[in-house]
Amino acid sequence: MSERTLVIIKPDAVAAGNAGKVLTRYEEAGLEIVAMDLRTISGEFSDQHYEEHLERDFYPALREFMTSGPMIPIVLRGEGCIATVREINGATNPANAEPGTIRADFGESGPRNAVHASDSPESAAAEIALWFPGL
Ligand code: CMP
Repeated sequence: MSERTLVIIKPDAVAAGNAGKVLTRYEEAGLEIVAMDLRTISGEFSDQHYEEHLERDFYPALREFMTSGPMIPIVLRGEGCIATVREINGATNPANAEPGTIRADFGESGPRNAVHASDSPESAAAEIALWFPGL
């Protein structure tokens, strides 16, 4: 089934000049770009995006990082794209990510892991509505 997912090329990957290389991985997997923007977010917006993590011990550092500079939110579309994107991204912690994945190649640490992607159809719908209302 064709589905949509929200990906964010995070501030670390944008600042390092890796945005194009990251985007190429998704395009080479045959995924279609439906929407894309360069955006710097507020702390309040980060709180909305990471609502389920607000009480986690790592969240203050993640919030500071996510508001530190521009990032690139993207809506991708394709058959089974939520799972495909998560495979291309690799494990959340770059130290555990398979070689050849985006996080292994471009991530640095827990928060600075190059990309975010929706983890389910429900989170994809909520995240797309938050970042690209009306899409
Ligand atoms: P992301 O896919 O954006 O979704 C939640 C984010 O929280 C995750 O990527 C990481 O950046 C961050 N994160 C998750 N677990 C940890 C952790 N144990 N330590 C630091 N950051 C984490």
